[in-house]
Amino acid sequence: MLTTIDELRNWSNEQHAAGLTVGFVPTMGALHEGHLSLVKAANERCDKTVVSVFVNPAQFAPNEDFHKYPRPLENDLKVLKSAGAPEVFVPSVAEMYPDGFDASVHIGGVSQPFEGQFRPVHFSGVATVVLKLFNAGQADIAFFGQKDYQQVCVVRKMVSDLNVPVKIAVCPIVREPDGLAMSSRNRYLSAEHRRQAVVLSRSLAEAERLISVKKEQKVKNIVAAMTKTICTDTDFTVDYAAVADPETLRELDIIDPLKHSAVVILLAAKIGTTRLIDNAVIEL
Ligand code: PAF
Repeated sequence: MLTTIDELRNWSNEQHAAGLTVGFVPTMGALHEGHLSLVKAANERCDKTVVSVFVNPAQFAPNEDFHKYPRPLENDLKVLKSAGAPEVFVPSVAEMYPDGFDASVHIGGVSQPFEGQFRPVHFSGVATVVLKLFNAGQADIAFFGQKDYQQVCVVRKMVSDLNVPVKIAVCPIVREPDGLAMSSRNRYLSAEHRRQAVVLSRSLAEAERLISVKKEQKVKNIVAAMTKTICTDTDFTVDYAAVADPETLRELDIIDPLKHSAVVILLAAKIGTTRLIDNAVIEL
């Protein structure tokens, strides 16, 4: 296990010196099948894989779940061993943010709407830590899950605007048998809330049906149907449900197949103290 930035950089340099490619999977631990699909993709596409496990304080606001975020490190290491035993990077907070640390990466446009409205510090925290991890890990390809769709847009924009020499690969959302997108935060749900959480993926399926089968073009009708699916007879409240351009994340009012070849449906909803996000890309 690597714990310092120097160790990670030396490990990566050694792989490259041996002519091997490096795949990088950044995580905050509490690993589930979604993470393991990223490790599998990295193992398939690269000679060596490194997984980082770091609960990044910079991407949590003071009122969020940084302290309660699950940290089952021993189990994560076990799980990774049976997933091809990638190298693992587990830095301390002091290693990533030593005394006097005073930098922050701000990405405009794509970080502003949706999560940006509800979690104003989140994406600068993500961009800052991901850039640090990229600089330390020197990977050829970094693997992210589509589950955090807006995060992928922010990371892509950062890589492109700041000329970071890494390719970004995006892997499909992994879902539970009832459709709930896998997330480390699902473990916060009570049994009753877990049962209700199926409405999130149902609302995406309903939106997809309206767009692809019913040819509904008015986003307000799609959002109304999604909200009804999510909130009827459940304890959910919706932070946002929206249809947007899949690259710019500009919110759409009308879905016009002549203007768009695809749209992304994004949602965030709260149940009890747990906030969940999900999304679907619909080809038109
Ligand atoms: O998606 C996550 O788990 C985190 O946002 C990431 C990319 C590891 C940065 O802390």
